[in-house]
Amino acid sequence: MKKSVSVFREMKKLGEKVTWLTSYDFPTAQFAEKAGIDMLLVGDSMGMCVYGYTGGTLPVTMDQCIVHSEAVRRGAPNTFVMGDMPFLSYQTTPPEAVKNAGRFFKEAGVDAIKLEGGRRIINMIKAIVDAGMVVCGHIGLTPQSSGQIGGFKAQGRTAETAYELVQDARAIQEAGAMFLLLEAVPPEVGKFITEDLQIPVYGIGAGPHVDGQLLIVSDMLGMFQAFTPKFVKKYANLADETVKAMTDYVNDVRGLKFPEEQHSYTMVEGEKEKFDQLVRKKKELLIGP
Ligand code: KIV
Repeated sequence: MKKSVSVFREMKKLGEKVTWLTSYDFPTAQFAEKAGIDMLLVGDSMGMCVYGYTGGTLPVTMDQCIVHSEAVRRGAPNTFVMGDMPFLSYQTTPPEAVKNAGRFFKEAGVDAIKLEGGRRIINMIKAIVDAGMVVCGHIGLTPQSSGQIGGFKAQGRTAETAYELVQDARAIQEAGAMFLLLEAVPPEVGKFITEDLQIPVYGIGAGPHVDGQLLIVSDMLGMFQAFTPKFVKKYANLADETVKAMTDYVNDVRGLKFPEEQHSYTMVEGEKEKFDQLVRKKKELLIGP
């Protein structure tokens, strides 16, 4: 059964860890639901993991996020699905943020949306919450502003910057967000913020003390080749397995080992002889006996 916001709140109180993965497509969402994953994020990391953009997540559009969210929703109808608001879909004005957040719910049937940033986007968070939507904040390493924060680097490693994150986290909760995601911060910072807030606080590279863990599915399955962040644990190496399977196929076709009899259809009994006769007759009619 799909978990609700109140179940996630209860899990925090009970100290039960939440499992969260990204997903961008129908089959992966099906596998995740089968595996008992609690929550799926249709992350704008699709820019790198699915589309191969070298500009990171910045080129990802609302329409792409909606199409992928729809596919994930279909694949995991009983899992809590969160849509990720792409760059410039919410940073402009509160009405624009509400309109774009609303598309995720109306068109893709998501259960929540996530957006990056702390106090400087608090008006957008408030506006989306006031429109009745479930919001997850995201602070720490925020890929959409990686240019400003010095690249894909851990955040909150000094007392001052850690305290900035605490203030952002408090403001996000105060604005009505129901979840917070911390990305790439030291475990001490993850622990403090998790204990400081009433809402569930999840982490990707935020240590073991947060209320739940997120991983990018392409990282944990060993499919994303460009780089592997420090916080990733690889649970499979699908890239190698996939290349091996494809190479075997190439060799089988070239070596006449595929297809075999069991991969071929049979003609109805007696029809092959009739077919041969028919072909002969047509040929005779065309060129004479
Ligand atoms: O897009 C995404 O997958 C994310 C994670 C990096 C947290 O936002």
